[in-house]
Amino acid sequence: MTPSDVKATLSFSDGSPQMELPLYKGTIGPDVIDIRKLYAQTGKFTYDPGFLSTASCNSTITYIDGDKGELLYRGYPIEQLAVNCDYLETCYLLLYGELPTPSQKEEFTNRVTNHTMVNEQMQFFLRGFRRDAHPMAVMTGLVGALSAFYHDSTDINNPEHREIAAIRLIAKMPTLVAMAYKYTIGQPYIYPKNDLSYAGNFMRMMFATPCEEYKPNDVLVRAMDRIFTLHADHEQNASTSTVRLCGSSGTNPFAAIAAGVACLWGPAHGGANEAALNMLEDIQRNGGVAKIGEFIKQVKDKNSGVKLMGFGHRVYKNYDPRAKLMRETCHEVLNELGLHNDPMFKLAMELEKIALEDEYFVARKLYPNVDFYSGIVQRAIGIPVPLFTAIFALARTVGWIAQLNEMIGDPEYKIGRPRQLFVGATKRDVKPIAQR
Ligand code: CMC
Repeated sequence: MTPSDVKATLSFSDGSPQMELPLYKGTIGPDVIDIRKLYAQTGKFTYDPGFLSTASCNSTITYIDGDKGELLYRGYPIEQLAVNCDYLETCYLLLYGELPTPSQKEEFTNRVTNHTMVNEQMQFFLRGFRRDAHPMAVMTGLVGALSAFYHDSTDINNPEHREIAAIRLIAKMPTLVAMAYKYTIGQPYIYPKNDLSYAGNFMRMMFATPCEEYKPNDVLVRAMDRIFTLHADHEQNASTSTVRLCGSSGTNPFAAIAAGVACLWGPAHGGANEAALNMLEDIQRNGGVAKIGEFIKQVKDKNSGVKLMGFGHRVYKNYDPRAKLMRETCHEVLNELGLHNDPMFKLAMELEKIALEDEYFVARKLYPNVDFYSGIVQRAIGIPVPLFTAIFALARTVGWIAQLNEMIGDPEYKIGRPRQLFVGATKRDVKPIAQR
């Protein structure tokens, strides 16, 4: 962090002494005011529910310019990474800070590939779930359970343990997601096949059966790989902050990532892709394009509780660059599958057009986010809707790990412990039950 020449001065209208607060500059983005000594010097806390104005850490991993609609992983624009790199190269970049050379890529791919199988005992653990359990309920359990299977990589303070936990998590997430899926449909698990690409292997574990060979389609594999890349990291969002907070207590990496999976599940976060597709299906069922006007009216009515899912973002106040790439992938996948007239895609594009011209969305700077189109792509590939968020979790795992490792390596890191403005009852005496 580079100290700024500028200082902030905090003064109080009641005559309490003022305080000078240092400012730090990042390489890009807003400066931050350092309030760490505020409580010690003034006896006051800051108040910022939802972290609207609070930087919880310094980071070198991902940068978002929400006004421009720009997303950079380690400085590289997402548009360039999505076209020139595959997911494992992106993982390497997020974890180690630089894009791999060909030999580094080969070595990293081999390491990940060598860890794709999970302990055979995991399938018996999985069997304890109901077959109709939501995949995110299953994933929260399975990822947390990894810490019960891999005791040699649970010490978060040991860099070697963190490294092997990182490789294991990246390698095993596709296997676990595919197992969760096969379990719900009652098919045998398909073991990983290590001569396939990361995305190709995942699709085979999802769609092959022991009685039929499965040949991954290159266009669909590329689409899957792009979905992974676009979801790989997104700076200090809710699930990443959850992982950091959870890991700050010194818990093991598997437990911290399981906390991230649990947080991602919510419909305001990773669950939005599932919610967006369910929303499109509802509109389609109730009359399709002709009913968009009526639906938009409901969205604008604050009492309806209806939101346009896949729209809006805390940081992006412009088109989410991932949504643009996802729309492009949507075209490619639908063309490949001969579904260019897919009514759901047409409905989504019409809905986007109408919303982007509507004063309500314009005034609030609400644009499509990554989840608006990702559901259509996944559905076309054959992924069932309830599995969408699990795939997001698979892809985001590398971001969570990179952020967790960055935090542990930061000499300024402390256990996360927010404070509060207490507005409850002041001290009072307990009355015996007969007198209450
Ligand atoms: N539909 C209708 N109105 C909306 C929407 C929406 N999707 N998003 C925001 N608004 C309105 C909101 O009601 C508020 O209006 P007003 O100022 O009149 O009260 C205004 O826009 C600002 O919204 P906010 O709720 O204060 O914004 P936030 O930063 O707290 O919430 C969000 C961001 C992503 C939770 C929200 O936009 C949302 O719920 N979107 C739908 C869910 C979604 O697509 N989530 C995926 C996010 S991207 C992937 C990920 O990170 O997981």
